[in-house]
Amino acid sequence: MGKDVIIACDFSSKQETLAFLDQFSGRKPYVKIGMELFYAEGPSIVRDLKERGHQIFLDLKLHDIPNTVKKAMAVLSRLDVDMVNLHAAGTRAMMEGALEGVTRPDGTRPLVIAVTQLTSTSQERLTEELLIEKPMDETVMHYAANAAQAGLDGVVCAPLEAGKVHQRCGKDFVTVTPGIRFADGEKGDQVRVTTPEQAKALGSDYIVVGRPITQASDPVAAYDRCVKEFVD
Ligand code: C5P
Repeated sequence: MGKDVIIACDFSSKQETLAFLDQFSGRKPYVKIGMELFYAEGPSIVRDLKERGHQIFLDLKLHDIPNTVKKAMAVLSRLDVDMVNLHAAGTRAMMEGALEGVTRPDGTRPLVIAVTQLTSTSQERLTEELLIEKPMDETVMHYAANAAQAGLDGVVCAPLEAGKVHQRCGKDFVTVTPGIRFADGEKGDQVRVTTPEQAKALGSDYIVVGRPITQASDPVAAYDRCVKEFVD
């Protein structure tokens, strides 16, 4: 699995996104398009960035009945993205439907990655609101195993969980890890953070980096630093 740095393009317009990416003059970083940008600009933002030569992780976290997710994934498959995701909580039947839907007529498909439990969900909320009695780490690993069993390619997880996920689901099961910060940088609202270098040592396959690059005074230098620490 080739390691790569994915820039989270958490912008609310095409204009802002292109102005940001133009700074990379000629270089084509792997980018993540999330709900904010997708809902603001629609599918055309995906086509535009694809045309410019970027690999794209479309982070829409689908979660619905299996038939609806299958059909939605079939539509998304036409956008030719490289990675999509969904909630493992939708069950194995939903994940299998997603895989079926996202597979293009020529047999190719993007990587399909599962969200296990959102990192914003605390142990307390898991137990008291969601009525899941098991500990968080056991729940996360079980959902990851469900995703693997359904035939998915990997999960979004914290770098600190990447090793355990690989142990449970195999070394080729992809770990996509946000919560990345430079050792000398701001944490923002992320609590448990990891440097790109630590994420590499912990076995992450892809790191997702937003503000440490998008808000940097020199975003290209910040991206290069991530690549140097994580990939090279
Ligand atoms: O700016 P920052 O580096 O914190 O951005 C991280 C990106 O990864 C954001 O787009 C955020 O929504 C996403 N993400 C996350 N934690 C998760 C899942 C996704 O930070 N558990």
